[in-house]
Amino acid sequence: MSYYKIENLEQYFKAYKKSVKSPEVFWSDIAEENFTWYKKWDKVLEYDLTKAEVKWFINGKLNIVKNCIDRHLNKKGDKTAILFEPNNPEEPTQHITYMELHERVCKMANVLKDQGVKKGDRVCIYLPMIPELPVALLACARIGAIHSVVFAGFSSSALISRINDLDCKVLITSDGSFRGNKSLNLKSIVDEALEKPSSIEKVLVVNRTGTEIQMKEGRDLWLQPLLDKAPKDHVAEVMDAEDPLFILYTSGSTGKPKGMVHTIGGYMVYTAYTFQTIFQPKENDVYWCTADIGWITGHSYIVYGPLLNGATTVLFEGIPSYPDHGRFWDVIDKHKVTQFYTAPTAIRALARENLSYIENHDLSTIRILGSVGEPINEEAWHWYNNHVGKKQSPITDTWWQTENGGIMIAPIPYVTPTKPTYASLPLPGVQPELMDERRNEIEDNQVVGSLCIKFPWPGMARTIWGDHKRFVETYFTAFPGKYFTGDGALRDEVGYYRITGRVDDVVIVSGHNLGTAPIEDAINEHPAVAESAIVGYPHDIKGNALYGYITLMETGEVRDRDNLRREINQHIASHIGPIAKLDKIQFVSGLPKTRSGKIMRRILRKIAEGDFSNFGDTSTLLNPEIVEEIKDERIEG
Ligand code: WTA
Repeated sequence: MSYYKIENLEQYFKAYKKSVKSPEVFWSDIAEENFTWYKKWDKVLEYDLTKAEVKWFINGKLNIVKNCIDRHLNKKGDKTAILFEPNNPEEPTQHITYMELHERVCKMANVLKDQGVKKGDRVCIYLPMIPELPVALLACARIGAIHSVVFAGFSSSALISRINDLDCKVLITSDGSFRGNKSLNLKSIVDEALEKPSSIEKVLVVNRTGTEIQMKEGRDLWLQPLLDKAPKDHVAEVMDAEDPLFILYTSGSTGKPKGMVHTIGGYMVYTAYTFQTIFQPKENDVYWCTADIGWITGHSYIVYGPLLNGATTVLFEGIPSYPDHGRFWDVIDKHKVTQFYTAPTAIRALARENLSYIENHDLSTIRILGSVGEPINEEAWHWYNNHVGKKQSPITDTWWQTENGGIMIAPIPYVTPTKPTYASLPLPGVQPELMDERRNEIEDNQVVGSLCIKFPWPGMARTIWGDHKRFVETYFTAFPGKYFTGDGALRDEVGYYRITGRVDDVVIVSGHNLGTAPIEDAINEHPAVAESAIVGYPHDIKGNALYGYITLMETGEVRDRDNLRREINQHIASHIGPIAKLDKIQFVSGLPKTRSGKIMRRILRKIAEGDFSNFGDTSTLLNPEIVEEIKDERIEG
C-alpha cells in the first residue's frame, strides 16, 4: 500500500499544502493506489455545501468487503484479522484469520440473502461485542444491504424507533450479552421492542449466553443452524461509490436522534487513510480499540479502518473493571498490543485505581496511544503518558465525530509534537476554520470560536436518513457554505487546535453524546412531572454528568422524593438507556424563563456547576426570584 509518506513535519506540511491546493488530485491518488475498484470513477468530486450535496468518486464501482478481506487472502490468508478476547478471561481467545473471516462473512451473506435481504435494504443489528457483530456488518456490506447498528445498551424504545425510522425487515441479535459478572437478556429487550408495530419480519438470534429466551414462531430463527447450512462462497455485489454503506444514529440538540448516512467509496478511502496515517500499522502489530461497535469509533477503527489495511484488530467483549481493574493491561500484555486506542473516561476511571494493577504488566510493546470521544484533561493525559506509555509512546488525541466518518484533527505519532489537551493539527485533506458569532473567520490566537470545516472530505456523512432538510439546517445553515461541527475550539500561536466542548445542547457523558431535549421529553412523560430542564456539569470521571431541574404536577399528593428520583431515572433508562440517567435531580417550584417562554439554560448550567459569580443579563427573566430558590437548594457533591 502506498499513502503519502509523512515521516516528519516537513512531509506533513507538504502533503497538507497539496491537499488544499489540489484536493481532487490528493484524494484520487490515495483512492487509486490503495484499493480495488471494479470500475474507476469518472469524476473525483462534485459538491455544493450550501445545499449539503457532496459526492465523491462519481460512478466508481466497488465492494468495500472485497477491499477489507478478499484482496488480502493471497498474502495474508493465515494472518489473524480479528482477535476476539471474551468477557471471561478463562474463555479462550479466538484468532479469526482473514481466510476464516472470509468464510464466515460469505456464509452470513448467504443467510441474509436467503431471508430475503436485498441490495439497499436496511438491516438492524443489536448485538454485543462478539465476532458475529463485525461479521454481520461485513455480510450486509457484501450483499449491498445497509447496516444500522444499535448499541446494545440502548432500551427497547430506542431500538424500535430506530428500526421503524429505517423500515428494517431483518434484525440480528443474540440471546444475551456478558458484561463483567453480569449477563443481560438482550432478546427480551428485542421482544419488548417488537410488541409495538414494526417493519421487522425476521429476527436472527445468535446463541451467546445460553439464557432461556422466547422464540416467536415464524419470526425468530436461531442463526447458527442457518449458517451451518449456508454455502461458503459468495460473489460480492457491485456497488456504486455513493450507495449507502450504513446508517448510525447520533443525538441532536433537539428532536429525535439523527440517522447519519455514510456512503461506501468515500468512507472506505477516508477510514483506511486515517487509520494508516495515525496508527501506522506494521505487519506483526496487534491493534486494539476499546470502543463498542455500536458507536462510530467501533465502525471506523475496530472494523473498517484496520481490515482495509490488513491489520489484526482486537475485539474485546468485556469491561475495564472485570475481573479486576487490571483487565486492559492484562489484555495488552497477553496479546502484545502495539497500538491502543481508548477514551478519556476509561483513563480517568483506571487512574483512580491502585498503580499495582498496571505495574505488574508488561506494556512495552505499545508504540502508539490514542484518545477519542471527548476532551482529554491534562491530568488524564499525563497519567496515560506516564503509566501506560511510560513516556515512550506518543499520545494521539483524535478529534472527530459520527458525522465525519473518521479522524479529522490529531497529532500524527512520531511527527507532530504533542501538547496536552490539544488535538493539534488537521490531517492533510481537512480544512478547519474558526468562526465568531458574527460569522467572521477568527484569525487571532486563543479566542474560542465555532469550529467549522470549509471543504468537503470523502468520509463526511451525506445526509440524515429521510430528512435532508434537517441535515442542511443542522450542519450547513449556521455558517452558510461550511460544515458546522457543533463544537467550540481555539487555536494557539502555532496553529494547534484545542477543542473546548459542545456549544449546543448535546452533553458528552462518559464519551457518549446525549441530547438533552430527548431526555427531557422522556422525563416529561412521567405522570408526576410537569416540566424539566437538563444541563451538563463537569464530573471527575465521566467528563460531564447530567443535572435535572424538575417541576412537579400540582396533584396535592406529596411523594417521597427519593422514590420519585429513582422512578424518573428508571423511566429514562427504559425510554433511552441507562447511560442517560441523571446524576442529580433537584425538584424546583419553577424554571427560570424569558418573557417569550424560553428556559434560560445558561443560568441553570452555572448553578449546576456551582458557579454563582455572574449569571449575566437576567433582565429578560419573567421570574427572576426563582433563581435564588434554585441556587439555595442546589444539590451539592
Ligand atoms: C467530542 C466520536 C475533544 C466532540 C468519534 C465531538 C472530542 C463529539 C474528541 C463527537 C477529542 C470527540 N477532543 N472532544 N479528541 N473526540 N469529541 O459523534 O464534542 O460520538 O463533537 O464521535 O465528541 O462524538 P461522536
